[in-house]
Amino acid sequence: MLWRALSWLKQKLDERVQKFVIRVLSAGPVPKHVAFVMDGNRRYARANHMKVQQGHSDGFVALRRLLGICLQLNVRCVSVYAFAIDNFKRPSEEVDALMALAEAKLRELCQHGDLLQQYGVRLNVIGRVDMLPESVREAVRVAEDLTRHNDRAILNLCMPYASRDEMTRAVQDAAQEKIDLGTRNTMVEEKDIEKHLMTSVAGSPPLDVLVRTSGVQRLSDYMLWQSCEGVQLHFSTTYWPEFGLSDFLPIILDYQRKQWCL
Ligand code: FPP
Ligand code: MG
Repeated sequence: MLWRALSWLKQKLDERVQKFVIRVLSAGPVPKHVAFVMDGNRRYARANHMKVQQGHSDGFVALRRLLGICLQLNVRCVSVYAFAIDNFKRPSEEVDALMALAEAKLRELCQHGDLLQQYGVRLNVIGRVDMLPESVREAVRVAEDLTRHNDRAILNLCMPYASRDEMTRAVQDAAQEKIDLGTRNTMVEEKDIEKHLMTSVAGSPPLDVLVRTSGVQRLSDYMLWQSCEGVQLHFSTTYWPEFGLSDFLPIILDYQRKQWCL
């Protein structure tokens, strides 16, 4: 009984400290667009003697946690690498479990009173949606429809996504647009590609910060076009399901320091 009361008290105290820290941080410059490569779910599961599926489930809890932090900070757009096109090569049991998780969580996320509706977030599923099973595509349609008029923030769920695929499609669409318009100059320029990227079509502001967890220092075909110029790359050693405010805090502070030093 005493133990439960103490742990309740600790949780309440943690929440208050967290709220205070976020409020202080949000007084400074905050990135408009943050992207996460949510890596390390399976290693987290192995380290904690869990099934792989549990690692991905806990990964979703972390996604919800980080989204909440970003929204309280007034980050306008959050993009997450939820499933790479390459991930279809994983064991079918794992792929099926990830698809079932995506379907269930897409439905949950947009429910009345849940995070997206509470903060006015529009959800976009970015990538080769045509490669998803029909039941997941249906959940995507419902989720995008339900949040279509939300305009305070954006969540880009990249799934199944690959940057080279996104860029190839952007070039194709840009070329097709030139043909359809019958313009004399059929040269595809950088700005044409930029305009047709899935992130641009979804209304995302330019990327400011990209974070990859679990100690891996690669981009793995994620946001390659978007990660240019001033984008700050951060590699955290924490596994994604354990990633929280204490890991994200130094990243935001680093962003603020660089903004102030400009
Ligand atoms: C990478 O860790 C993670 C994924 C491939 C899946 C990410 C998905 C979630 C966090 C759940 C997201 C929610 C939805 C809506 C689908 P890994 O499997 O590569 O782990 P490892 O690097 O330890 O092998
Ligand atoms: Mg991995």
